[in-house]
Amino acid sequence: MACERLSTDGVGVIEFESVSKTFRDGTTAVVDLTLTVPSDQITVIVGPSGCGKTTTLRMINRMIEPTSGRILWDGTPLHSKKKTTLRRQMGYVIQSGGLFPHRTVLDNVGTVPGLLGWDKSKTRQRSIELLDSVGLDRALADRYPAQLSGGQQQRVGVARALAADPMVMLMDEPFSAVDPVVRAELHEFFLGLQRQLSKTIVLITHDIDEAIKLGDQVAILRVGGTLAQVGTPQQLLDEPADAFVEGFVGRDRGYRALSFSSAANLPLKRVTAVRDPSLARPGEPTLVVDADARPLGWADAERPGQVFQLGATFDPEQDTLRAALDSALTSPVGLAVAVPTATDRYAGVVSAADILAQVTQSRAALAETLSIREVEAEQSTSESSAEVSSSRSAEDDNAMRAS
Ligand SMILES: Nc1ncnc2c1ncn2[C@@H]1O[C@H](COP(=O)(O)OP(=O)(O)OP(=O)(O)O)[C@@H](O)[C@H]1O
Ligand SMILES: [Mg+2]
Repeated sequence: MACERLSTDGVGVIEFESVSKTFRDGTTAVVDLTLTVPSDQITVIVGPSGCGKTTTLRMINRMIEPTSGRILWDGTPLHSKKKTTLRRQMGYVIQSGGLFPHRTVLDNVGTVPGLLGWDKSKTRQRSIELLDSVGLDRALADRYPAQLSGGQQQRVGVARALAADPMVMLMDEPFSAVDPVVRAELHEFFLGLQRQLSKTIVLITHDIDEAIKLGDQVAILRVGGTLAQVGTPQQLLDEPADAFVEGFVGRDRGYRALSFSSAANLPLKRVTAVRDPSLARPGEPTLVVDADARPLGWADAERPGQVFQLGATFDPEQDTLRAALDSALTSPVGLAVAVPTATDRYAGVVSAADILAQVTQSRAALAETLSIREVEAEQSTSESSAEVSSSRSAEDDNAMRAS
């Protein structure tokens, strides 16, 4: 979900100005951090264990105070705001949900509204709505956290943080305690929710894949608590600032970069589609579909009547080249099957070779944009140095007149 420009106006902008934190025992967790968290977007802070991520997050709701520098919220220094007010205006999600074990799901979700003094029926109403919006069955409302799966607990944690409709959400490794499949589901749910709610979100992870998938902006910290680079996921992949970032972003970053190109322009081709697998044509891939043109699998003339697994399909309207390539690579006939979610119907196929051709094209387009940017940067530098020299000569003139 990379985007070109990050908005820094509106409500919910957090600015770190040269912020450092050294704990009493002398441990330095964060050093000279300058970072702007734009409003209504997801900023991910990523880095190895102990690099100061949690410390950075906790300075935003003043659970930890900086040793030097300051943090502003929409231009107002945080230290001029009351801690309790601040924490109620900021949702906070911690690893494993951090739920109260002796409170029911509904009471957990209603914690902050309760603290804010909302009446019971309003709190209950709001909590039930939130269970719906995080995709949890109302039947779970009266259970205790221990009676939920890890993924359900995370959703309750997110619902609880959203309860008082905070402007800012602080999320410390919210998805790390669940298995990869549940995690991928939670990512989709989270991105969908953010499309509706548009909160300012600061999310922490040590997983660069998660950072790239979720972040509009990603800040990479290195051990010792310094900022290594901040940018959109695409900027980090295309132009890593140094060897640390390059190493952290990983060797397969070329593959990751596929996540930023839409599959919408892939050239889809048609193959023979049949409802009866015994009608497979010899020597050509034959797709088996149901009465509504939904793909079921592949047929093979040499093994009449059998249906072979379809592999993963992709949605050309929503998925990226990465999903399409994965789909082609998992297909028994090497063809990715396009199935728009809107219709659920077979819309065409594309081979891995055609997907790679598309990648080559977008790389060429990217190289062109980068070189245009370089030329523009050079031009603006020479323009500003021209301005400097003309203002210098004006100063010189004044000096000469004065003398
Ligand atoms: N209260 C404290 N007193 C002293 N040192 C602390 C304190 N809290 C954290 N630290 C130290 O500060 C550094 C940064 O800790 P922090 O919890 O911010 O790291 P992190 O990036 O969140 O790590 P992880 O990925 O393991 O959660 C670590 O060296 C940690 O031991
Ligand atoms: Mg941490």
